[in-house]
Amino acid sequence: MERRLLVAANWKMHGQKLQNEMLLQALLAGLVKENAPEIVICPPSIYLAQLQAELKNTMLSLGGQNLFTEEKGAYTGEISAPMLVDFGCRYVIVGHSERRCLFGEDDELVGKKFVAAQKSGLIPILCVGESMEQRYKGLTDEAVSTQVERILKKVGVKAFGSAVVAYEPVWAIGTGITATPEEAQAVHKMIRVAISSHDAAVASKLRIIYGGSVNAFNAWDLIAKSDIDGALVGGASLVADQFISICRSMGGNKNA
Ligand code: PGA
Repeated sequence: MERRLLVAANWKMHGQKLQNEMLLQALLAGLVKENAPEIVICPPSIYLAQLQAELKNTMLSLGGQNLFTEEKGAYTGEISAPMLVDFGCRYVIVGHSERRCLFGEDDELVGKKFVAAQKSGLIPILCVGESMEQRYKGLTDEAVSTQVERILKKVGVKAFGSAVVAYEPVWAIGTGITATPEEAQAVHKMIRVAISSHDAAVASKLRIIYGGSVNAFNAWDLIAKSDIDGALVGGASLVADQFISICRSMGGNKNA
């Protein structure tokens, strides 16, 4: 079984037209197609049009950082899945911990977003992860498996056949503290086993990527672990050299 590795850049609320262009040019100059992972850039939605134009016929694909559950309607400020598709998105991040913590998104809403994404043909990148407190209390597995199971219950296991899971321990996001490769692998494996108990074939194909202070120095050790299939990269995705090194350390496929 081979899994295509995936590196997703989550630009969060960073960048402006000129900076975006410079960063993209540096990435396109430095990245090589051979043995590369699949690479997705998730810019702030207002810049999707800019990136769609600049990434045409390149090896980079596009993703949204968020979406709303409905396709259209009186939802001021929101963006729908068909709109993301309209601007060339292939992926969309759902349930990022910043959405959960700062904007009050719960598993119920995250599940609806997951469904809305797939309905329009987008591949959801479902983020899960425990808080610092949960880790200290030894509740990591419980917290993460609860998040996964709630979504599973809502969408059914087959839906994970066209989704990606991102394990992002909340305490590792933007802090410079990464989970050790062993800590991350243990949770990735736990997630795969949980999905496998519903459908072994779906679990073995599922890409489970790691996020939380991934950088050019730790990417190599993380990707060496058997259940880590790529990375969701925040801060380091804004620095061309860093992001290029991360993509280079990943390689193209994982034999599982
Ligand atoms: P970070 O962010 O790489 O800056 O820790 C990762 C994320 O939030 O997706």
